[in-house]
Amino acid sequence: MYEHLKVEKEDLFTVITINRPGQLNALNLEVLEELNRVLEEEGKDPSILVFTGEGEKAFVAGADIAAMKDMTPLEAEKLSQAGQVVFHKIYQWPLPTVALINGYALGGGCELALACDLRVIKEGALIGQPEITLGIIPGFGGTHFLKKIIGEARAKELIMTGKTLKAREAEKIGLVQTVLPDENFNEEAFKQVQELGSRGSKALRAAKMVLNDNHEDVKSGLEKERTFFAELFTTQDQTEGMTAFLEKRKPRFKNK
Ligand code: COA
Repeated sequence: MYEHLKVEKEDLFTVITINRPGQLNALNLEVLEELNRVLEEEGKDPSILVFTGEGEKAFVAGADIAAMKDMTPLEAEKLSQAGQVVFHKIYQWPLPTVALINGYALGGGCELALACDLRVIKEGALIGQPEITLGIIPGFGGTHFLKKIIGEARAKELIMTGKTLKAREAEKIGLVQTVLPDENFNEEAFKQVQELGSRGSKALRAAKMVLNDNHEDVKSGLEKERTFFAELFTTQDQTEGMTAFLEKRKPRFKNK
């Protein structure tokens, strides 16, 4: 069904693997179109999404440079728009999205990770926005999301110098939240995703909605939080979560 993606559905999450290992999973228009299609499909019954890259070496090594080299400005704009549409959909996904960064996350790969809520990186991986070294700038939302996540000064430094960061350096500046050892990376990372999924989707959805909202002022931010907070008290999961705590057992959320 997909030429460049692998889609695997688990109970509590869906894994989308970018599958072009020969090109270190570089993103071209076809991959972006397939990503758009899979998001439309999965959007009918959303679950937590996990993005990763095929092979041992790369998460995604960027937009496809060979495909971009001779593009006209119009074609470049089309590519940028396709990337931005897909990454904005990932940002707005109603449940958490996780980037399992199992190798190089450069350019569009870093941007794919930035569009996700959680970034879990392999200790030996490198991440960054090296576009400036190719005579361009990030075009899939990187200038916006990087600034938002690590702040203007750091974003300017990374984008203007094009330097790549080691996993631990990226963690230090808040670019990724979790670093895991290279050994058993997938196993450990999926344990964390499994645990996230076991939280129950009702509260996760509310958390995502409230945290994603860019409030103009404190008052409307607090109002939105209050509304979602109160709504959760109509759910069985809230009763179960609190009952389980008081009964000193693990909750069994039913997403109701
Ligand atoms: N676009 C297209 N092809 C890419 C690519 C990209 N972004 N990144 C890697 N590839 C291809 C290489 O051209 C090579 O293809 P070949 O075997 O047909 O020659 C293959 O993937 C393996 O890459 P290679 O460069 O040989 O691996 P390496 O281990 O020596 O280096 C990187 C790995 C990631 C450091 C290097 O590939 C690189 O710098 N890639 C570009 C990163 C980048 O600038 N991304 C931003 C793009 S906007």
